[in-house]
Amino acid sequence: MDAVLSKVSRIPTYEVISPSSVAKKFGLHPSQILKMDANENLVFPLEFQKKILYEIIREEDLRYYPTDQLNNLHESLSQFLRVSKDNVIVGNGSDQLILAIGLIFLERETNIITLNPSFFTYKLSAFLNEAKVKVVNLSSKDFSLNLHDVFNVLDEKSRIFFICSPNNPTGNQFNQKLILDIAEEFEGIIVVDEAYVDFAEGSLVKEAVDQDNIIVLRSFSKSAGMAGFRLGYAVSCEENISALKKAFPPYHVNTLSLRAGLKIIQNYRIVKKVVEEVKRNRENLASELKEIGGIRVFDSKTNFILFRTNINSEEIYNSLLKKGIMVRIFRGNSLLRNCVRVTVGTEEMNKRFVESLKEILPWT
Ligand SMILES: Cc1ncc(COP(=O)(O)O)c(C=O)c1O
Repeated sequence: MDAVLSKVSRIPTYEVISPSSVAKKFGLHPSQILKMDANENLVFPLEFQKKILYEIIREEDLRYYPTDQLNNLHESLSQFLRVSKDNVIVGNGSDQLILAIGLIFLERETNIITLNPSFFTYKLSAFLNEAKVKVVNLSSKDFSLNLHDVFNVLDEKSRIFFICSPNNPTGNQFNQKLILDIAEEFEGIIVVDEAYVDFAEGSLVKEAVDQDNIIVLRSFSKSAGMAGFRLGYAVSCEENISALKKAFPPYHVNTLSLRAGLKIIQNYRIVKKVVEEVKRNRENLASELKEIGGIRVFDSKTNFILFRTNINSEEIYNSLLKKGIMVRIFRGNSLLRNCVRVTVGTEEMNKRFVESLKEILPWT
C-alpha cells in the first residue's frame, strides 16, 4: 500500500470551492454569488444552450452507447477545421486529453517541460506517469518566454513541452514563430494548448497536422460556454491521433456532450458573436481597472484578466469572497505575488466586480 501511495504523495490536491459553500459560509443567497474564478463563459446565452439541450433530448435515445455521435462530431470538427477526420480526437474536456497525452508519451525517468506560471494539469499528467517536471520561468516583467531558457532545460529525456497559448493565468499569447522554432529543434512532442485561442488571433492547427511533433488542444468550455458538458479535442498528425486513441476506453465522451458539440459547430456564428462581446467587455473591464490606479493590469488575449496590486492578494480574495465574488489567486508563486485573476463576465457582473474592488482597496 505504501508503494502505491508514494506515487501519489507528491501530487497536490486541486481544491475547487463551490459557489454554494461560499453562499453558506457568508450567509448569502446562492443567486448573489459571482463566479469569476474559473474562466467559464457567462456571456454565452443560457437560453440557447437550453434550446439545444432540449432538442438533443428529443432526438436521442440514451439507452444506447454513443457510436454515430462520436463519428459525427469527428466528421463535423474535421470540416470545421479543414483537416482530415484522422487528425482529430475528442476528449471529456481538454483536461482528459492532457492526461491521455501523458499516458501515451511519458514513462518513468522521462520529463516534461512546462512554463511557470501556467496551467496545473500538465504537471498532473507528468506526476501520474512518474515523469519529472522541468520548469521554464516566464519573464517577471511581462511573462514573455525566452527561447534560450527553453533550450537550456531540454534534454534527451524530455518528451513533452506543454505551452499554453494564450497562457493561463497570465493571459498573453506567445509568438507562433517561437513555438515553431522550438518544434524544429525538439525531438519530443509540443503540446500547444489553445483553450483560449478564440479570444486571440492565430492558431497552429495547420502546423499540427503537417508536422509530426505538434498537438494542438482546444476546449468547448471557454468560447463556446460549455464547461459543464466537458468537451475538448486534440488536432495532430494521423500517427499521433491514432496513438492517442489507444489511451481511451470506448465511449469515453457521453452522447449529450457529443451532440452539444455538434450543435455548437453548426451554430458557430453564435460563438463568434459571444467572443466579440467578451472581448469588448474585457477591454472595458481592463480600462476600468486601470482607471482605479495602483493596479497593474496585464494585457489579455483570453476571457480573463490578471492584475497586480501592492496589497496582499489574500486580503483582496477574502474581502471579495465575503461579498460573494469568487476570483483566483496564486499562493506560493513568487511570479504571481499579489496577483488576482478575474474572469471577464457580463457587463453587469464586471460592474459589480469593479465596484466591490473599489470598496476594498484602501486608496479608493
Ligand atoms: C489552459 C487550459 N487548458 C485546458 C483547460 C481545461 O479545459 P476543459 O474544460 O476543456 O477540460 C483549462 C481550463 O480552465 C485551461 O485553462
